[in-house]
Amino acid sequence: MKVAVTGADGFIGSHLVEALVRAGADVVAMAQYNSVGSWGWLEDLPADVLDGVEVRLGDLRDAGTTSSALAGASVVYHLGALIAVPYSFDAPRSYVETNVLGTQNVLEAVRRESSRLVHTSTSEVYGSALSVPISEDHPLQAQSPYAATKIAADKLVESYVAAYGVRAVTVRPFNTYGPRQSARAFIPAVMAQALAGRTTVRVGSLSPRRDLTFVADTVAAFRAVGELDDDPWNGATFNAGTGSSWSMGHVLHEIARVVGVHLDVDTDAERVRPPAAEVRHLECDASRLRAATGWEARSSLREGLEATRAWMAEPRHFGSYKPDLHQV
Ligand SMILES: NC(=O)c1ccc[n+]([C@@H]2O[C@H](COP(=O)([O-])OP(=O)(O)OC[C@H]3O[C@@H](n4cnc5c(N)ncnc54)[C@H](O)[C@@H]3O)[C@@H](O)[C@H]2O)c1
Repeated sequence: MKVAVTGADGFIGSHLVEALVRAGADVVAMAQYNSVGSWGWLEDLPADVLDGVEVRLGDLRDAGTTSSALAGASVVYHLGALIAVPYSFDAPRSYVETNVLGTQNVLEAVRRESSRLVHTSTSEVYGSALSVPISEDHPLQAQSPYAATKIAADKLVESYVAAYGVRAVTVRPFNTYGPRQSARAFIPAVMAQALAGRTTVRVGSLSPRRDLTFVADTVAAFRAVGELDDDPWNGATFNAGTGSSWSMGHVLHEIARVVGVHLDVDTDAERVRPPAAEVRHLECDASRLRAATGWEARSSLREGLEATRAWMAEPRHFGSYKPDLHQV
């Protein structure tokens, strides 16, 4: 079966491509065009896996390259997006262009091809939890341009299902971590500093709580949803998360334990979100996904952090991180 993945050059997308190839799928991987011909994290895939992937460089903001990359796929996994919350404060328009117009280009392509779409949302669309655990019925609250554009993309998908009969489902992952995550995120940022031998790490706020899912579990959620029958699930949204949440302070403590060091903390004002934009608590109710597919997160936080440390400590991986720079 031919399937396509957008955002295949990214953190979650590269793991999804790897899992789909290993499961025997014929995978087209759409990566963002760049002048140096980089395939992003796809280049970290073992050669025997990468051999089975057709990489297409393009741009989601461009209808032509998007539709030609996705042509002929029976399932399109749409993960491509701008995803950093802090950078969305600096460059909101680029988020509208990529996440909203880009998703519309994907929808037009799947509509034309009669493909099935697995769209990617995010737990950030819920904003600070009004009650936990958060089910799919929790109100949507945009506390950042990132969240606003993801809500708009989700609603476009909903409208294409209703108006044009497009076949689509939405996966709404809670915070995901693991090998290949960029250093803008809390876990790789702290782990890179710890592995570089820093004993005082620069961090933002340690009080927000997040439901942290190891990337292999998130990928398993995508695959499970990708295999669901349209009836009765067409148009459905599925939360994917563990059902537990941890404060960033606790996560920092766990990272120190896994790396085997003591870490002091230096709060860096640049890493703290504006108060009204800070999402204080996210904790997932994944019962719909569990009921539909039997999916459950398997990795504990400790196991996931161990796997992340082992990967990041390899010199060829560690070399791509800049522990002393704060990059949004
Ligand atoms: N990482 C998380 O914790 C998390 C949680 C919930 C949801 N998500 C969602 O999962 C998806 C993947 O996130 P990720 O963490 O792998 O992020 P990522 O930034 O590693 O991957 C996104 C990819 O999209 C590509 N992209 C961006 N703009 C593009 C464009 N104009 N044209 C083509 N490609 C473009 C980038 O090259 C990048 O590789 C996103 O939709 C994100 O919103 C992520």
